[in-house]
Amino acid sequence: MDPTNWPGVFREGRDLFTINLRPGERVYGEELRVSARVEYRQWDPFRSKLAAWLLRGAEEAPWVGAKNVLYLGAAHGTTASHLSDLLPDARIFVVEKSPTSFAPLLALARRRTNLYPILADAQLPERYAADVGTVEFLYQDIAQRTQAAIFAENARTLLATGGRGLMMLKVRSVTQTRPAPAIVHAARSELSQGGLTVLSETALLPFSREHTALLVRS
Ligand SMILES: C[S@@+](CC[C@H](N)C(=O)[O-])C[C@H]1O[C@@H](n2cnc3c(N)ncnc32)[C@H](O)[C@@H]1O
Repeated sequence: MDPTNWPGVFREGRDLFTINLRPGERVYGEELRVSARVEYRQWDPFRSKLAAWLLRGAEEAPWVGAKNVLYLGAAHGTTASHLSDLLPDARIFVVEKSPTSFAPLLALARRRTNLYPILADAQLPERYAADVGTVEFLYQDIAQRTQAAIFAENARTLLATGGRGLMMLKVRSVTQTRPAPAIVHAARSELSQGGLTVLSETALLPFSREHTALLVRS
């Protein structure tokens, strides 16, 4: 198992791994591997856009040092579980609006006590702002037509000055008719107007054909 430039992320060949916070437990059927008595969980870039983003050449691991994280659109917790491995001492607030997805997320949070599940709509950050406080890392993967506006509003309400944010823009959720570069450009403008500095733009091919990741600083 080889360390990478992203603290806490390891590599064996082309595969990424994180150290399993709950040895012996899988979250989404991923492979577990033991090396030098440490158990690692494989991080599948086809299941997790955050892993895809790293493999597409991320220059930094924007969650490093965060004590509080806000994750919008956690679904069953596939990606959130890897952040849970990476930030054992942080509080990771995981927001999900679908009650069907929230049930397994809640079960996961019972086993991983750094996950704080919130059943809420990310369009209404004022509903959870008091519980969350200020975060140093904001992650969003919600596939909504207005997702840049939702991201900017959450950043305005909850992201610390100098904090990092990573938005997984699902281009086809915005519109089927405009070309993808125009949609990404519009999202970038919306984030800039919201006071955020866009640091990088990364297409997630070949792991996801539909997503572009935008890394920002507040
Ligand atoms: C692509 S899935 C997320 C997958 C997850 N991020 C992962 O990598 O494990 C998108 C999720 O966003 C949720 N979602 C969509 N709109 C939302 C909103 N406005 N507020 C909160 N969650 C939302 C959906 O219910 C869905 O579970």
